[in-house]
Amino acid sequence: MKRVLTFGTFDLFHVGHLKILKRARALGDYLIVGVSTDALNYSKKQRNPIYNQEHRKEIIQELKFVDETFFEESLALKRQYIIDYKADILVMGDDWKGRFDEFKDICEVVYLSRTASISTTEIIEIVRET
Ligand code: CTP
Repeated sequence: MKRVLTFGTFDLFHVGHLKILKRARALGDYLIVGVSTDALNYSKKQRNPIYNQEHRKEIIQELKFVDETFFEESLALKRQYIIDYKADILVMGDDWKGRFDEFKDICEVVYLSRTASISTTEIIEIVRET
């Protein structure tokens, strides 16, 4: 039984989110998703996500290939989350390539390619301009 862990904001849920979660689940038997909190997003980007953290987590939790979700409160807790959730594999989008190699001592680290031409930031920009 392989446990897979991944993280993200998943604001304005789109097909790139869907595809990476589906592919992450296919690497193992049980997919756990750390959904970043509004406060964590604010500290990174100085703005809150459009959808609040409860709604973002609820959407992710209801996907048929997601088994468990929790709130990611801090970037500094990644190692602890990997241990607490007994992850065998950490999956990240390749926009993070190499940046999580430090966890290879406790789990496998896999970077998956992103879906081309879509992102939450781009969706927000398109909506703003129209
Ligand atoms: N992701 C993906 N393909 C995309 C967009 C995102 O595979 N086109 C992946 C990211 O690599 C990450 C996960 O989806 O593993 C959650 O990404 P998130 O940052 O929440 O989504 P983005 O659309 O990249 O949001 P933003 O534009 O705000 O960075």
